[in-house]
Amino acid sequence: MSTSLHTLSVRSVITPTLDLSTLAIHGGLFPDPSTGAILTPIHQTTTYVQSAVGVDKGFTYTRSGNPTVAALERNLGELDGGLPAVSFATGMAALTALFLTLLKSGDEVVVSDVVYGGTVRLLRKVLEPLGIRSKFVDTSSIESLRGAVSRKTRLVLIETPANPTLKLTDIAAAAEVAHEAGALLAVDNTFLTPVLQRCFDLGADITVYSTTKHIEGHNATVGGAVITRDAELRERLRFVQNAVGFAQAPFEAWITLRGIKTLPLRLERHSRNALTVARILEDDSRIAKVLYPGLPSFPQHELARRQHIDHGGLIAFEVKGGARAGISLMNSVKLCALAESLGAVETLITHPASMTHATIPPDERERIGISDGLVRLSVGLEAAEDVVADLDQALDAKGA
Ligand SMILES: Cc1ncc(COP(=O)(O)O)c(C=O)c1O
Repeated sequence: MSTSLHTLSVRSVITPTLDLSTLAIHGGLFPDPSTGAILTPIHQTTTYVQSAVGVDKGFTYTRSGNPTVAALERNLGELDGGLPAVSFATGMAALTALFLTLLKSGDEVVVSDVVYGGTVRLLRKVLEPLGIRSKFVDTSSIESLRGAVSRKTRLVLIETPANPTLKLTDIAAAAEVAHEAGALLAVDNTFLTPVLQRCFDLGADITVYSTTKHIEGHNATVGGAVITRDAELRERLRFVQNAVGFAQAPFEAWITLRGIKTLPLRLERHSRNALTVARILEDDSRIAKVLYPGLPSFPQHELARRQHIDHGGLIAFEVKGGARAGISLMNSVKLCALAESLGAVETLITHPASMTHATIPPDERERIGISDGLVRLSVGLEAAEDVVADLDQALDAKGA
Protein backbone atom coordinates (compact mmCIF):
# COMPACT_ATOMS: atom_id res chain seq x y z
CA MET A 1 0.00 0.00 0.00
CA SER A 2 2.67 2.51 0.99
CA THR A 3 4.63 1.82 -2.18
CA SER A 4 1.63 2.48 -4.39
CA LEU A 5 0.75 5.66 -2.49
CA HIS A 6 4.33 6.81 -2.76
CA THR A 7 4.20 6.15 -6.49
CA LEU A 8 0.93 8.08 -6.66
CA SER A 9 2.50 11.13 -5.04
CA VAL A 10 5.59 11.09 -7.21
CA ARG A 11 3.67 10.56 -10.43
CA SER A 12 1.87 13.93 -10.28
CA VAL A 13 -1.58 12.69 -11.13
CA ILE A 14 -3.43 15.07 -13.43
CA THR A 15 -6.60 13.00 -13.77
CA PRO A 16 -7.16 11.24 -10.48
CA THR A 17 -8.38 7.70 -10.83
CA LEU A 18 -9.18 7.39 -7.14
CA ASP A 19 -12.42 8.62 -5.60
CA LEU A 20 -12.20 12.11 -4.08
CA SER A 21 -12.84 10.69 -0.58
CA THR A 22 -9.78 8.48 -1.02
CA LEU A 23 -7.67 11.25 -2.53
CA ALA A 24 -8.53 13.56 0.39
CA ILE A 25 -6.99 11.04 2.78
CA HIS A 26 -4.15 9.62 0.68
CA GLY A 27 -3.50 11.88 -2.32
CA GLY A 28 0.16 12.82 -2.50
CA LEU A 29 0.81 11.45 0.99
CA PHE A 30 2.79 8.48 2.26
CA PRO A 31 4.08 7.26 5.63
CA ASP A 32 7.18 9.06 6.89
CA PRO A 33 10.08 7.08 5.36
CA SER A 34 12.30 7.43 8.44
CA THR A 35 9.78 6.38 11.15
CA GLY A 36 6.70 4.94 9.45
CA ALA A 37 4.53 7.66 11.07
CA ILE A 38 1.24 7.51 9.18
CA LEU A 39 0.77 11.28 9.29
CA THR A 40 3.21 13.66 7.63
CA PRO A 41 5.41 15.03 10.47
CA ILE A 42 5.43 18.74 11.25
CA HIS A 43 8.83 19.83 10.01
CA GLN A 44 9.10 22.84 12.30
CA THR A 45 12.46 24.10 11.08
CA THR A 46 13.91 27.20 9.52
CA THR A 47 16.80 25.64 7.69
CA TYR A 48 18.21 22.31 6.47
CA VAL A 49 21.75 21.05 6.91
CA GLN A 50 23.56 20.52 3.63
CA SER A 51 26.06 17.67 3.35
CA ALA A 52 28.37 19.71 1.12
CA VAL A 53 28.20 23.05 -0.64
CA GLY A 54 25.33 22.79 -3.12
CA VAL A 55 24.23 19.34 -1.89
CA ASP A 56 20.85 19.27 -0.15
CA LYS A 57 17.85 16.96 0.16
CA GLY A 58 15.52 19.24 -1.81
CA PHE A 59 14.96 21.82 0.93
CA THR A 60 17.22 24.72 1.87
CA TYR A 61 15.14 27.31 3.79
CA THR A 62 11.50 27.14 4.90
CA ARG A 63 10.37 30.29 3.09
CA SER A 64 11.40 28.56 -0.16
CA GLY A 65 10.12 25.09 0.72
CA ASN A 66 9.19 22.86 3.65
CA PRO A 67 8.34 19.11 3.62
CA THR A 68 5.05 19.54 5.55
CA VAL A 69 3.94 22.38 3.30
CA ALA A 70 5.01 20.34 0.26
CA ALA A 71 2.81 17.45 1.47
CA LEU A 72 -0.18 19.81 1.71
CA GLU A 73 0.60 21.11 -1.78
CA ARG A 74 0.67 17.59 -3.27
CA ASN A 75 -2.50 16.60 -1.45
CA LEU A 76 -4.48 19.67 -2.54
CA GLY A 77 -3.19 19.44 -6.10
CA GLU A 78 -4.23 15.81 -6.46
CA LEU A 79 -7.64 16.53 -4.96
CA ASP A 80 -8.22 19.32 -7.49
CA GLY A 81 -6.85 17.35 -10.46
CA GLY A 82 -3.95 19.77 -10.95
CA LEU A 83 -0.25 19.97 -10.31
CA PRO A 84 0.82 20.32 -6.66
CA ALA A 85 -0.69 23.51 -5.23
CA VAL A 86 1.34 26.56 -4.33
CA SER A 87 0.43 27.30 -0.70
CA PHE A 88 0.27 30.67 0.97
CA ALA A 89 -0.07 32.18 4.43
CA THR A 90 -3.66 33.35 3.69
CA GLY A 91 -6.21 33.34 0.90
CA MET A 92 -5.41 37.02 0.27
CA ALA A 93 -1.71 36.16 -0.10
CA ALA A 94 -2.71 33.53 -2.67
CA LEU A 95 -4.73 36.10 -4.65
CA THR A 96 -1.94 38.68 -4.38
CA ALA A 97 0.61 36.17 -5.67
CA LEU A 98 -1.70 35.27 -8.55
CA PHE A 99 -2.08 38.93 -9.55
CA LEU A 100 1.63 39.70 -9.19
CA THR A 101 2.51 36.65 -11.27
CA LEU A 102 0.20 37.42 -14.19
CA LEU A 103 -0.24 41.20 -14.24
CA LYS A 104 2.02 44.18 -14.74
CA SER A 105 1.36 47.89 -15.09
CA GLY A 106 -0.99 48.53 -18.03
CA ASP A 107 -2.63 45.11 -17.81
CA GLU A 108 -6.27 44.50 -16.97
CA VAL A 109 -8.04 41.93 -14.86
CA VAL A 110 -11.77 41.35 -15.29
CA VAL A 111 -13.43 40.29 -12.03
CA SER A 112 -16.93 39.18 -10.97
CA ASP A 113 -18.83 42.16 -9.55
CA VAL A 114 -19.75 40.10 -6.46
CA VAL A 115 -16.60 38.81 -4.79
CA TYR A 116 -15.14 38.72 -1.29
CA GLY A 117 -14.67 42.34 -0.09
CA GLY A 118 -10.97 41.77 0.57
CA THR A 119 -10.42 40.95 -3.11
CA VAL A 120 -12.04 44.25 -4.12
CA ARG A 121 -9.91 46.13 -1.57
CA LEU A 122 -6.69 44.48 -2.82
CA LEU A 123 -7.46 45.28 -6.45
CA ARG A 124 -8.62 48.86 -5.89
CA LYS A 125 -6.39 50.05 -3.10
CA VAL A 126 -3.15 48.14 -3.68
CA LEU A 127 -2.95 47.13 -7.34
CA GLU A 128 -4.71 50.07 -9.07
CA PRO A 129 -2.05 52.52 -7.81
CA LEU A 130 0.56 50.21 -9.35
CA GLY A 131 -1.13 50.60 -12.75
CA ILE A 132 -3.05 47.30 -12.79
CA ARG A 133 -6.62 48.01 -13.83
CA SER A 134 -9.55 45.93 -12.59
CA LYS A 135 -12.96 45.87 -14.24
CA PHE A 136 -15.79 44.52 -12.09
CA VAL A 137 -18.57 43.06 -14.22
CA ASP A 138 -21.59 40.86 -13.78
CA THR A 139 -19.96 37.62 -14.93
CA SER A 140 -23.24 35.75 -14.40
CA SER A 141 -24.05 37.35 -17.79
CA ILE A 142 -21.64 35.91 -20.34
CA GLU A 143 -22.56 38.79 -22.67
CA SER A 144 -21.39 41.31 -20.04
CA LEU A 145 -18.17 39.37 -19.62
CA ARG A 146 -17.65 39.26 -23.39
CA GLY A 147 -18.19 43.02 -23.54
CA ALA A 148 -15.68 43.65 -20.76
CA VAL A 149 -12.62 41.74 -21.96
CA SER A 150 -10.16 43.63 -24.12
CA ARG A 151 -6.70 43.31 -25.65
CA LYS A 152 -5.29 44.32 -22.27
CA THR A 153 -7.09 41.59 -20.32
CA ARG A 154 -4.59 39.04 -19.03
CA LEU A 155 -6.80 37.41 -16.42
CA VAL A 156 -10.48 36.81 -15.76
CA LEU A 157 -11.18 36.04 -12.09
CA ILE A 158 -14.57 34.69 -11.17
CA GLU A 159 -15.92 33.75 -7.80
CA THR A 160 -18.69 31.17 -8.08
CA PRO A 161 -20.76 30.82 -5.94
CA ALA A 162 -19.94 34.41 -5.05
CA ASN A 163 -19.48 35.73 -1.54
CA PRO A 164 -22.03 36.63 -0.16
CA THR A 165 -25.00 36.54 -2.59
CA LEU A 166 -24.11 33.11 -4.07
CA LYS A 167 -24.51 34.44 -7.62
CA LEU A 168 -23.09 31.90 -10.08
CA THR A 169 -20.94 32.21 -13.18
CA ASP A 170 -20.95 29.53 -15.87
CA ILE A 171 -17.32 28.36 -15.67
CA ALA A 172 -17.20 26.65 -19.08
CA ALA A 173 -18.67 29.70 -20.86
CA ALA A 174 -16.38 32.09 -18.97
CA ALA A 175 -13.35 29.97 -19.92
CA GLU A 176 -14.32 30.22 -23.59
CA VAL A 177 -14.62 34.02 -23.42
CA ALA A 178 -11.33 34.39 -21.51
CA HIS A 179 -9.48 32.13 -23.94
CA GLU A 180 -10.90 33.89 -27.01
CA ALA A 181 -9.48 37.12 -25.55
CA GLY A 182 -6.09 35.48 -24.94
CA ALA A 183 -6.57 35.62 -21.15
CA LEU A 184 -6.51 32.96 -18.45
CA LEU A 185 -9.52 32.03 -16.34
CA ALA A 186 -9.06 31.73 -12.57
CA VAL A 187 -11.87 30.55 -10.31
CA ASP A 188 -11.99 31.36 -6.62
CA ASN A 189 -13.45 27.98 -5.61
CA THR A 190 -13.38 28.65 -1.87
CA PHE A 191 -17.12 28.07 -1.34
CA LEU A 192 -17.39 24.63 -2.96
CA THR A 193 -13.78 23.36 -2.97
CA PRO A 194 -12.52 20.67 -5.40
CA VAL A 195 -14.93 18.24 -3.77
CA LEU A 196 -18.08 19.97 -5.00
CA GLN A 197 -16.89 21.87 -8.10
CA ARG A 198 -14.38 20.52 -10.66
CA CYS A 199 -13.10 23.75 -12.20
CA PHE A 200 -10.37 22.25 -14.42
CA ASP A 201 -12.83 19.82 -16.02
CA LEU A 202 -14.97 22.86 -16.89
CA GLY A 203 -12.09 24.65 -18.62
CA ALA A 204 -10.56 26.85 -15.90
CA ASP A 205 -6.80 27.43 -15.98
CA ILE A 206 -6.30 28.27 -12.32
CA THR A 207 -8.12 27.69 -9.04
CA VAL A 208 -7.67 29.82 -5.93
CA TYR A 209 -8.60 28.91 -2.37
CA SER A 210 -8.84 30.45 1.01
CA THR A 211 -7.99 27.19 2.81
CA THR A 212 -9.02 29.06 5.96
CA LYS A 213 -12.59 28.05 5.11
CA HIS A 214 -13.97 24.56 4.28
CA ILE A 215 -10.60 23.08 3.37
CA GLU A 216 -9.17 23.35 6.90
CA GLY A 217 -12.70 23.55 8.21
CA HIS A 218 -12.24 23.86 11.97
CA ASN A 219 -11.69 27.61 12.44
CA ALA A 220 -8.10 26.88 13.46
CA THR A 221 -5.92 28.46 10.75
CA VAL A 222 -5.63 30.94 7.93
CA GLY A 223 -4.15 29.82 4.63
CA GLY A 224 -4.44 29.94 0.86
CA ALA A 225 -3.55 28.03 -2.28
CA VAL A 226 -3.31 28.47 -6.05
CA ILE A 227 -3.49 25.44 -8.35
CA THR A 228 -2.85 25.07 -12.06
CA ARG A 229 -2.09 22.35 -14.59
CA ASP A 230 0.55 24.48 -16.29
CA ALA A 231 4.05 23.62 -15.01
CA GLU A 232 5.60 26.86 -16.23
CA LEU A 233 2.90 28.98 -14.55
CA ARG A 234 3.32 26.95 -11.36
CA GLU A 235 7.05 27.75 -11.36
CA ARG A 236 6.30 31.47 -11.77
CA LEU A 237 3.86 31.31 -8.85
CA ARG A 238 6.47 29.55 -6.73
CA PHE A 239 9.00 32.21 -7.67
CA VAL A 240 6.65 34.98 -6.43
CA GLN A 241 5.78 32.97 -3.31
CA ASN A 242 9.46 32.80 -2.38
CA ALA A 243 10.44 36.27 -3.59
CA VAL A 244 7.65 38.04 -1.69
CA GLY A 245 7.72 35.70 1.29
CA PHE A 246 4.06 34.66 1.39
CA ALA A 247 4.72 31.04 2.37
CA GLN A 248 2.38 28.93 4.49
CA ALA A 249 3.83 27.89 7.87
CA PRO A 250 4.46 24.17 8.56
CA PHE A 251 2.18 23.90 11.60
CA GLU A 252 -0.72 25.54 9.71
CA ALA A 253 -0.03 23.24 6.77
CA TRP A 254 -0.22 20.20 9.06
CA ILE A 255 -3.54 21.30 10.60
CA THR A 256 -4.90 21.94 7.10
CA LEU A 257 -3.75 18.49 5.94
CA ARG A 258 -5.60 16.93 8.84
CA GLY A 259 -8.73 18.92 7.99
CA ILE A 260 -8.71 17.81 4.34
CA LYS A 261 -9.03 14.15 5.32
CA THR A 262 -12.67 14.76 6.31
CA LEU A 263 -13.45 17.42 3.69
CA PRO A 264 -15.71 15.23 1.49
CA LEU A 265 -17.55 13.92 4.55
CA ARG A 266 -17.98 17.40 6.01
CA LEU A 267 -19.21 18.89 2.75
CA GLU A 268 -21.83 16.18 2.42
CA ARG A 269 -23.20 17.13 5.84
CA HIS A 270 -22.77 20.91 5.28
CA SER A 271 -24.78 20.60 2.05
CA ARG A 272 -27.51 18.48 3.63
CA ASN A 273 -27.82 20.80 6.63
CA ALA A 274 -27.85 23.93 4.48
CA LEU A 275 -30.60 22.56 2.23
CA THR A 276 -32.70 21.68 5.29
CA VAL A 277 -32.24 25.14 6.81
CA ALA A 278 -32.83 26.90 3.47
CA ARG A 279 -36.09 25.02 2.88
CA ILE A 280 -37.39 25.86 6.35
CA LEU A 281 -36.40 29.53 6.03
CA GLU A 282 -38.08 29.71 2.62
CA ASP A 283 -41.37 28.56 4.15
CA ASP A 284 -41.11 30.95 7.10
CA SER A 285 -43.44 33.95 6.85
CA ARG A 286 -40.91 36.16 8.70
CA ILE A 287 -38.34 35.73 5.90
CA ALA A 288 -38.42 37.90 2.76
CA LYS A 289 -35.94 36.05 0.53
CA VAL A 290 -33.67 33.01 0.67
CA LEU A 291 -30.77 32.38 -1.70
CA TYR A 292 -29.37 28.85 -1.83
CA PRO A 293 -28.27 27.27 -5.14
CA GLY A 294 -29.88 23.95 -4.14
CA LEU A 295 -33.36 25.47 -3.92
CA PRO A 296 -35.50 25.24 -7.09
CA SER A 297 -36.40 28.92 -6.47
CA PHE A 298 -32.73 29.98 -6.82
CA PRO A 299 -32.51 32.12 -10.00
CA GLN A 300 -29.63 30.02 -11.40
CA HIS A 301 -30.73 26.64 -10.06
CA GLU A 302 -30.31 24.95 -13.47
CA LEU A 303 -26.70 26.14 -13.76
CA ALA A 304 -26.07 25.05 -10.15
CA ARG A 305 -27.31 21.54 -10.98
CA ARG A 306 -25.04 21.38 -14.02
CA GLN A 307 -21.95 22.86 -12.40
CA HIS A 308 -22.01 21.66 -8.79
CA ILE A 309 -21.67 18.18 -7.37
CA ASP A 310 -23.60 19.55 -4.39
CA HIS A 311 -24.29 23.08 -3.21
CA GLY A 312 -22.27 23.52 0.00
CA GLY A 313 -23.04 25.13 3.33
CA LEU A 314 -23.64 28.83 2.52
CA ILE A 315 -27.05 30.49 2.52
CA ALA A 316 -27.94 34.18 2.13
CA PHE A 317 -31.29 35.56 3.25
CA GLU A 318 -33.20 38.70 4.10
CA VAL A 319 -35.60 39.07 6.99
CA LYS A 320 -38.91 40.91 6.51
CA GLY A 321 -38.46 44.33 8.08
CA GLY A 322 -35.18 45.03 6.30
CA ALA A 323 -31.85 45.87 7.86
CA ARG A 324 -33.24 46.42 11.36
CA ALA A 325 -34.90 43.01 11.42
CA GLY A 326 -31.80 41.31 10.01
CA ILE A 327 -29.51 42.97 12.53
CA SER A 328 -31.93 42.10 15.34
CA LEU A 329 -31.75 38.44 14.28
CA MET A 330 -27.95 38.48 14.18
CA ASN A 331 -27.81 40.08 17.63
CA SER A 332 -30.15 37.45 19.07
CA VAL A 333 -28.62 34.13 18.00
CA LYS A 334 -27.36 31.89 20.80
CA LEU A 335 -26.05 28.71 19.13
CA CYS A 336 -24.96 30.30 15.84
CA ALA A 337 -21.91 32.55 16.28
CA LEU A 338 -21.95 36.12 14.98
CA ALA A 339 -18.54 36.14 13.33
CA GLU A 340 -16.57 36.68 10.14
CA SER A 341 -15.42 33.64 8.13
CA LEU A 342 -17.30 30.59 6.92
CA GLY A 343 -16.95 26.93 6.11
CA ALA A 344 -16.13 25.50 9.53
CA VAL A 345 -17.89 23.02 11.80
CA GLU A 346 -19.55 25.81 13.81
CA THR A 347 -22.50 27.65 12.25
CA LEU A 348 -21.46 31.26 11.69
CA ILE A 349 -23.78 34.15 10.95
CA THR A 350 -22.36 37.25 9.28
CA HIS A 351 -23.58 40.73 8.33
CA PRO A 352 -21.72 41.27 5.03
CA ALA A 353 -22.54 45.00 4.82
CA SER A 354 -20.72 45.80 8.08
CA MET A 355 -18.25 42.91 8.19
CA THR A 356 -16.84 41.06 5.17
CA HIS A 357 -17.88 43.61 2.51
CA ALA A 358 -17.68 46.84 4.53
CA THR A 359 -14.98 48.32 2.29
CA ILE A 360 -17.32 48.33 -0.75
CA PRO A 361 -19.19 51.70 -0.99
CA PRO A 362 -22.87 51.42 0.15
CA ASP A 363 -24.43 52.37 -3.23
CA GLU A 364 -22.29 49.78 -5.02
CA ARG A 365 -23.13 47.14 -2.39
CA GLU A 366 -26.83 47.83 -2.86
CA ARG A 367 -26.51 47.62 -6.67
CA ILE A 368 -24.89 44.16 -6.55
CA GLY A 369 -27.41 42.76 -4.08
CA ILE A 370 -25.52 43.12 -0.78
CA SER A 371 -28.33 44.97 0.98
CA ASP A 372 -27.93 46.24 4.54
CA GLY A 373 -30.39 43.55 5.60
CA LEU A 374 -28.61 40.62 3.91
CA VAL A 375 -27.63 37.85 6.31
CA ARG A 376 -24.98 35.25 5.40
CA LEU A 377 -25.26 31.94 7.14
CA SER A 378 -22.49 29.36 7.01
CA VAL A 379 -24.31 26.26 8.17
CA GLY A 380 -22.04 24.07 10.30
CA LEU A 381 -22.15 20.44 11.27
CA GLU A 382 -24.49 20.73 14.24
CA ALA A 383 -27.89 19.04 13.95
CA ALA A 384 -29.85 21.12 11.42
CA GLU A 385 -32.88 21.20 13.75
CA ASP A 386 -30.80 22.89 16.47
CA VAL A 387 -29.65 25.57 14.03
CA VAL A 388 -33.26 26.07 12.89
CA ALA A 389 -34.47 26.31 16.51
CA ASP A 390 -31.83 28.97 17.23
CA LEU A 391 -32.83 31.02 14.17
CA ASP A 392 -36.49 30.63 15.15
CA GLN A 393 -35.95 32.08 18.64
CA ALA A 394 -33.70 34.84 17.22
CA LEU A 395 -36.37 35.83 14.68
CA ASP A 396 -38.87 36.26 17.54
CA ALA A 397 -36.43 38.04 19.85
CA LYS A 398 -36.35 41.80 19.77
CA GLY A 399 -32.58 42.15 19.57
CA ALA A 400 -31.03 45.58 19.78
C1 LIG B 1 -14.15 33.65 -1.48
C2 LIG B 1 -12.99 34.13 -0.66
N1 LIG B 1 -11.78 34.27 -1.23
C3 LIG B 1 -10.72 34.69 -0.52
C4 LIG B 1 -10.83 35.03 0.81
C5 LIG B 1 -9.63 35.53 1.57
O1 LIG B 1 -9.10 34.49 2.35
P1 LIG B 1 -8.29 34.71 3.72
O2 LIG B 1 -9.25 35.29 4.71
O3 LIG B 1 -7.82 33.33 4.05
O4 LIG B 1 -7.16 35.63 3.42
C6 LIG B 1 -12.06 34.90 1.45
C7 LIG B 1 -12.22 35.25 2.88
O5 LIG B 1 -13.32 35.32 3.40
C8 LIG B 1 -13.17 34.43 0.70
O6 LIG B 1 -14.39 34.28 1.25
